[in-house]
Amino acid sequence: MKILFIGDIVGSPGREMLTDYLPKLKEKYRPQITVVNGENAAAGKGITEKIYKQFLNLGVQVVTMGNHTWNKREVIDFIDEAPYLIRPANFPENNPGKGIVYVKYNQQVIAIINLQGRVFLDPHDDPFKKADELINEAKQRTDLIFIDFHAEATSEKQAFGRYVDGRVSAVIGTHTHTQTADERILPHGTAYLTDAGMTGPYDSILGVDTESVIKRFTTNMPVRFDVDKTGRNQLNGCVIHLDPTTGKAKKIERIIINDDHPFFT
Ligand SMILES: [Fe+2]
Ligand SMILES: [Fe+2]
Repeated sequence: MKILFIGDIVGSPGREMLTDYLPKLKEKYRPQITVVNGENAAAGKGITEKIYKQFLNLGVQVVTMGNHTWNKREVIDFIDEAPYLIRPANFPENNPGKGIVYVKYNQQVIAIINLQGRVFLDPHDDPFKKADELINEAKQRTDLIFIDFHAEATSEKQAFGRYVDGRVSAVIGTHTHTQTADERILPHGTAYLTDAGMTGPYDSILGVDTESVIKRFTTNMPVRFDVDKTGRNQLNGCVIHLDPTTGKAKKIERIIINDDHPFFT
């Protein structure tokens, strides 16, 4: 049992990378479930219904979000009719959408959960407490539980991973757009990676045009941030191998595709 996860897809460069490489990654790893983070899919911030449907048509089963969930206002209108689009579960209760979805593959049920950290991000509900709630709910149906933990601070992400270790199959971090090299199986069997990284412009600052980010830092003036479309692109993610009967992780491999790390079949 394998889950393929692709980190934050940024704008059209990210969507193009997904279109180009998803078939190749599926052929190489043969995952049963593919999950992508789509919080930056529409011009760098948010997602549209068209892009959500495009991801499903490419063979993605679930799209997770993060702090940019509501940036494209149309999402408010379609998220409740988009069964496989989830946003952080610890957003206020009155928000549209949901933070957990169950997908079926053959006889297996897999729960996908999205949560958001609180360090350097909006002060949402406690993600640890929300995780307890959702894990208990999911356990009624399955031991296969995948969490996209969307957070900034490495300490919060590590603490969260250890907090749920043994109760879920995998905790994969998103949001920083920079892949970390700390993939591991935690002591009680949860696959963990602090950040899966970003899929989009390689010659950029976290996906944004380099010159405008430098201008912001050197002038402190307001600067418009656009997705860089001029340079090379990259794809980041990981694949998790699970024992389908226990839900424990057996192996986690990082995926990094760019000009410095070419794709091998
Ligand atoms: Fe992001
Ligand atoms: Fe984010």
